[in-house]
Amino acid sequence: VTSPSVDPDDVAPAVRELDTIVSLSKRRGFIYPSSEIYGGINAVWDYGPLGVELKSNVKRAWWRSMVQERDDIVGLDAGILMHPQVWVTSGHVGSFSDPLVECATDHRRFRLDELPGTEGLSVMELQDPGIVERLGLRCPVDGGPLSAPRRFNLMFKTFMGPVEEDAAVIYLRPETAQGSYVNFKNVLQSSRKKLPFGIAQIGKSFRNEISPGNFVFRMREFEQMEMQYFVRPEAEAAAAFETWLPARRAWYERYGVAPSRLRLREHAPDELAHYAKKAVDVEYRFPFGWKELEGVHNRGDFDLSRHSEASGEDLEYFDQTTGEHLIPWIVETAAGADRAAFTFLIDAYREEEVRGETRVSLALHPELAPYTVAVLPLLKKRPEIVELCHRIKADLQKHVMAVYDDTAAIGKLYRRQDEIGTPWCVTVDVESLEDGAVTVRDRDSMGQERVPVEGVTRLILDRLEASRAG
Ligand code: GAP
Repeated sequence: VTSPSVDPDDVAPAVRELDTIVSLSKRRGFIYPSSEIYGGINAVWDYGPLGVELKSNVKRAWWRSMVQERDDIVGLDAGILMHPQVWVTSGHVGSFSDPLVECATDHRRFRLDELPGTEGLSVMELQDPGIVERLGLRCPVDGGPLSAPRRFNLMFKTFMGPVEEDAAVIYLRPETAQGSYVNFKNVLQSSRKKLPFGIAQIGKSFRNEISPGNFVFRMREFEQMEMQYFVRPEAEAAAAFETWLPARRAWYERYGVAPSRLRLREHAPDELAHYAKKAVDVEYRFPFGWKELEGVHNRGDFDLSRHSEASGEDLEYFDQTTGEHLIPWIVETAAGADRAAFTFLIDAYREEEVRGETRVSLALHPELAPYTVAVLPLLKKRPEIVELCHRIKADLQKHVMAVYDDTAAIGKLYRRQDEIGTPWCVTVDVESLEDGAVTVRDRDSMGQERVPVEGVTRLILDRLEASRAG
């Protein structure tokens, strides 16, 4: 008997239909379409009351592991608008583009490399003017004829100052990385760091993507979490790359992503971005396939050499112990805050049968959950119960995000908190008024325990701390 060959990478996604997450996000206030009352704007999304907490927890968790817990990395928050020459020097004006084709009948535009039949084509082939004809490609919507590919630059342009003329054109940054390179000297001198050291940034980036989509996976306005690690040339860069790659994958696992739904994929030589010597993506098994979650890049001395030449500023590093002057190499870890939050949301989704009903829960890591704790009254008609709830909540919210809800019966209140990923619920009942104890319920096990009122905040903070360590 032969067993069918199984592709070890063909792992089931955490959620079969993306729509499950899209509708939960809208209904519960994680993510809404932007400008919805005007019909929306393509590829821009707004974070609601729960989404903003989730995303800011993701950013805080990243900052904690990339800056707070390290001695060798410092933070930076550079402007979104930069001198336009930055983008000429970085290569973005010349090369930050995708191959675009247009349908002659319905005028829809597509990224050539995303059309069926173009799988596996090299970058050179994608630029070949005869490629559409040679492969017999047609518009996937109405079957109309497609134009030859042309390069479409992804940078958004705007004007600086009151005059709208070519000389005033500037760009919205398509990555945060360049802000770290142009500030290399400032950071070096003010922080007195020695190689190897890193500069971390979190901030908005903008790309006029030709085919955005899959909810917040590919947007035109998004947030990046990027770290540039400056090292001595070549051998040290190669070694740093091999350290950072597993460390970045482990970060997603530490915050709950199933290891089986993560994998690494190295870029083929002709797929490498214009700056990269080596690039490996951490990929996640999204409901729409394996896709990039984060990129780790060995950028060589490309960035600092180019900026040094173009600006005339000496961006060399002086090594006091060896007396050497050198241009550091850069190993970059480039993640997306939206894409990471999206991944945690998908991977945490659970559906199970409990007493004949479907229980939906988000098994989010306690540090990422929008609310750490909910305080719920068993009987909202008893003012003493409500008052005690508010007292407990007031104490908890000095430390964590806490919420009070009395708009349904307790079973329903638990389900609501499960569905938004609240790890713990504290319930005040009639007995609490007599014995001074409350029930703490765990989201994942649904186990309950009685705890003295005075010990509740400490218990929740200890659990949170334990989840961070574990
Ligand atoms: N500085 C290098 C750089 O920007 P990238 O692979 O183009 O590399 C890094 O982007 C990360 O930024 C991606 O892995 C992804 O998480 C996020 N990202 C890029 N484009 C995005 C988009 N259009 N929408 C949402 N996230 C995006």
